[in-house]
Amino acid sequence: MIHDLWYKNAVIYCLNVETFIDSNGDGVGDFVGLTDKLAYLAGLGVTCIWLLPFYPSPNRDDGYDVSDYYGVHPRTGTFGDFVELMNQARQLGLRVIVDLVVNHTSDQHPWFKKARRDPESPYRDYYVWAKKRPSNWNRGMIFPGVQNATWTRDAVAREYYFHRFYDFQPDLNTHNPAVKEELMRIMGFWLQLGVSGFRMDAAPFVIERKGARVRPAREYELLHEIRDFLQWRRRDGILLAEANVPPTESLSYFGERGDRLQMMLNFWVNQRLFYSLATGDTTALREGLLATYARPAAAQWGVFLRTHDELDLGRLTPHQRETVFKAFAPEKRMQLYGRGIRRRLASMLNNDRRRIELAYSLMFTLPGTPIMMYGDEIGMGEDLRLPERYATRTPMQWSAHPHAGFTTSRRPIRKVVTDPIYGYQQVNVADQRRDPNSLLNWMERVIRMRKECAEIGWGDWKVLSRLPDRVLGMRYDWNDRSTILLHNFADKPCRVRLRVDGPTGKKLLNLLSQEQNEADGGGLYQIELEPYGYRWLRVGELERPIADEKTRRA
Ligand code: NOJ
Repeated sequence: MIHDLWYKNAVIYCLNVETFIDSNGDGVGDFVGLTDKLAYLAGLGVTCIWLLPFYPSPNRDDGYDVSDYYGVHPRTGTFGDFVELMNQARQLGLRVIVDLVVNHTSDQHPWFKKARRDPESPYRDYYVWAKKRPSNWNRGMIFPGVQNATWTRDAVAREYYFHRFYDFQPDLNTHNPAVKEELMRIMGFWLQLGVSGFRMDAAPFVIERKGARVRPAREYELLHEIRDFLQWRRRDGILLAEANVPPTESLSYFGERGDRLQMMLNFWVNQRLFYSLATGDTTALREGLLATYARPAAAQWGVFLRTHDELDLGRLTPHQRETVFKAFAPEKRMQLYGRGIRRRLASMLNNDRRRIELAYSLMFTLPGTPIMMYGDEIGMGEDLRLPERYATRTPMQWSAHPHAGFTTSRRPIRKVVTDPIYGYQQVNVADQRRDPNSLLNWMERVIRMRKECAEIGWGDWKVLSRLPDRVLGMRYDWNDRSTILLHNFADKPCRVRLRVDGPTGKKLLNLLSQEQNEADGGGLYQIELEPYGYRWLRVGELERPIADEKTRRA
C-alpha cells in the first residue's frame, strides 16, 4: 500500500480563468489575475486547482472546442503567464490539474481543416466519417433540444462526420494509433509544464469505438495505456474522469487493480444526494453510497455538489427527477436538456444557510475527495437569462465595486449577477471576509477540519443503521481513529440515539464546536440535531500523541 497518495486527502477547486479575475481591464479573466488570487485560494484551504479549458478555441462551448492543444487562449494571457502561475502555485503548495479534452476537437482545429479538405490527408482518419448518412444520425445526442444530430454532413468533405456533442465538435477517432500518439503528446506537454494531472473530459466517449457500422463498445484498456504513460512521465500525476456511468461500470474505469484512472466524479451519489435533500429522506443516498462502496484501494471518488455543467439528474427515475425539479427548479427555464438543472447550489436551496451548510458538510464528509466550484464558497447565484449552462458561469464576485471587482472594463466577458439576493452588492468575497459569521469563513473552518480528517479520504466507512430515515449517519475508521458524521435532512429537529462500537466510556467530541457527548448508563449517546443540523464527532480523543510511523501518513 502506498501511503502518500495526495489526491486521497485533497480539496479541489474548479474555476475558469476567463471568469475568475481580470488583471488588465479587457473584460476577460486572465492568468495574471488568477496568479494574484492564489493566496486567496490557499487561504481558503484549497490544495488543488482544476482549470477548465483555457486553450485557444473559438469558444462555442466555453473552451471545450479546442483548436490548439499547445497554447493558452490569447485573451487569457501568454505562455509566460501560465508558467508564472504554475511557479506561484508551487510556492504556495497548490497543485494544478487541467482539462484534457480529447474526445473531440473544434471544427476549426487544423487537423479537422486538413481532414475535411483532403481524403488522402493523414488527418482524415483522425476523425470518423461515413459516405452515406448513417441510420442512427439523430440518436445519442448529449444536448437534446439544442443539438439535433450526431452525424452531420460536411460540405467540404462531402461526407458525414460523427460528433457526440455539438456539430462544431467533430469526434476524434481515438482508436487510430496516430491519434493516441497525439493524445499522449498533449499530456506530456502539460505535465512537463508542471500540472499534477488531468480531468478527462467525456471519458466514456473517448474510449468508445466509433463509426457508422461499428458496434458500440468501450475499450477500457485505452485508459490503462493513458495511465501508464502518465505515470512514467510524472509519478504523482492523476487522472480524474468525467464519466456519468452506473456503479457497476465504474470499476472498469478504475481498473479492477486500480491500474486505470485514479479518480472519478461520483455522479451516482451526487444525484441521490439531491434527491434526498429534496425529500428529506436519506434512503436513496444511503443506497447510492453503498452502490459505490467497492473500489480498488488506491482509487478515489470525487465528491461534488455542482460543477460548471447542469446538475445532471439523468440517472434518477423519472419520478425521482420530477421530485428534484419540483423542489429545486420549479420553473421550466431553470431546467435543461430534459434532465438537469442550470442553477447554483445556494439558489436551489433558497439561500437557506442551514441547508447550504448541510449540503457542504455532506460534500466534505462523504467518502472521497471534495471538489468545489468557484463562487460556491460565498453562495453565488445564477443568471437565467444566459443560455444553457452559461447561467451558472458568471464572473466571480470579489467585491461591491462595479462588475463585482472582476474587471475594470465596462464590458465584462459575461455580465455579473446583479439580482437583489445573489447580486454582487450582497454576495461578495470582500464583505464575507470581514464577517466572522459569513459562509466564506464557515467554509474556511470546515475545510481546515476536513483536511485534518484524513480518515474521510482514506478510511473504511459504513452507514450507521437504526437511525431515522431523515438522518444519515456515517462512521469512518482509519489508523486508530474513528469519526462519526450525522446529517439531519429534515426541517424538524431530531433526537438521535447512537450506540458506538468499540471500548465503552469514550466521549464523542464535536470537531466544529465545544460540544461533547457522553454515553448514558446503557451505553447510548443522545444527540439533538437541529433542523438540517449536522455533527462531526470524533470518538475519544481530539489530539493524540504521535505513537508510531503509521500515524504520520495523513
Ligand atoms: C463535458 C464538459 O463538462 C462540458 O462542459 C462539455 O460541453 C462537454 N464535456 C463536451 O466537451
